[in-house]
Amino acid sequence: MRLVLLGAPGAGKGTQAAFLKERYGLAHISTGDLFRFNLKNQTPVGLEAKKFMDAGQLVPDEIVMRMTGEKLSEFKNNEGFMLDGFPRTVAQAEFLETKTKIDGVILFNIDDETIVKRLTSRAVCRDCGNVTNIHEHDKCPLCNGELYRRDDDNETTIRSRLKVFHEQTEPLIVFYRAKNLLLEVNAGGEKKPEEVFASVVELLNHDKN
Ligand code: AP5
Repeated sequence: MRLVLLGAPGAGKGTQAAFLKERYGLAHISTGDLFRFNLKNQTPVGLEAKKFMDAGQLVPDEIVMRMTGEKLSEFKNNEGFMLDGFPRTVAQAEFLETKTKIDGVILFNIDDETIVKRLTSRAVCRDCGNVTNIHEHDKCPLCNGELYRRDDDNETTIRSRLKVFHEQTEPLIVFYRAKNLLLEVNAGGEKKPEEVFASVVELLNHDKN
């Protein structure tokens, strides 16, 4: 199974990817994580991406496509994966079509104010990458590792990322709906991550039948 996880920054794509990985054994390809990995290793791609990420802007398509194209070429035809944070523009979606067939696109619907609240509370574990809430934990609840806040999780940058999502990524909803690939999940309100995941599983089961 090959899936695209689509949703605003902070919609819970990474959180749901962890559940999907455990349940279905899918590889998790996150373009944001690939950029942060490149930045940590001070590669040209990472250094170029940093200025866009810090401003809450999209990294230019040609850089994203080159990096993602290389990553996708590592997978054999029968290997499943989910793409988290890619595609984010119609040009990226068209590029993806030239690389692989996608079985479904899960859209996580959520309102902007819930996102601002969640992202200003987000913490990530330096050791295992687990994502959690800074107000609930001062160490990683999984491995006791040190928690840190992402540079782009400040309110000004979060609002820029949301604007970019509405302007440049939302057109993908129409794009994928027209291809009958869109599976919509309510990911906002008081729905806990496990409840969101139960909806995802239900949709995937229904889609198979
Ligand atoms: P990226 O790393 O992809 O960030 P993003 O899309 O902004 O998404 P996030 O990782 O911030 O959020 P998420 O949806 O995974 O939410 P999470 O599960 O963590 O991209 C960063 C930057 O890289 C971009 O701005 C851009 O510059 C660049 N980039 C990346 N891909 C690109 C591309 N294709 N093209 C161009 N540029 C690209 O959850 C958020 C928080 O909420 C967590 O604290 C979590 O614990 C909590 N939470 C999750 N679910 C729930 C729930 N149900 N209830 C309560 N809390 C919850």
